[in-house]
Amino acid sequence: MKPVFCFIILVFFISCKDNANKAVKAEVIYDMYVPSEMSVLMKELYAFNLELKKQVVKEEELTPFPEQFLNIHTAQLSDFKARTERFKSFSNIFLTAQKEIYNTNSDLSLKDRFNNTINTCISCHSLECTGPIPKIKKLLISQ
Ligand code: HEC
Repeated sequence: MKPVFCFIILVFFISCKDNANKAVKAEVIYDMYVPSEMSVLMKELYAFNLELKKQVVKEEELTPFPEQFLNIHTAQLSDFKARTERFKSFSNIFLTAQKEIYNTNSDLSLKDRFNNTINTCISCHSLECTGPIPKIKKLLISQ
């Protein structure tokens, strides 16, 4: 949706004859492509858990918990979203679950601990941002 929109604007300004004006507008277009810090962090969360899933399934050594995930508390959100109390508590529930994957003394299996983490992603998303849910669900390990 977004790239198509930007492309239309770009075409509009390329056809515009005022060069000075074009330069100013080009900056605006560049701006529109900058994802929020949260969006960048989320892509990392996704990529990391995709790798972790493979390691869990193959019973390989797990990549350690990435400390930058703690940035979920501070990463700037897209303009239209607010960091509500509910959002903060979902962030904590997620971080606790993600860290619990590394708790080798847990009564739960590693697979369950991993799937619990993914379910906390889905819980937050079902309230905050439903679009990526089908993609996130694919991270779940089938029992
Ligand atoms: C506390 C709530 C919360 C949790 C927990 C959470 N997300 Fe998100 N996620 C969001 C919000 C809000 C956005 C939209 C970010 C924005 O636009 O600023 C998002 C965006 C995304 C995106 C889209 C990024 C993009 O811009 O293309 C993906 C993919 C994603 N999350 C995956 C995950 C995965 C995987 C997990 C768990 C490992 C997870 N999320 C945990 C709230 C959450």
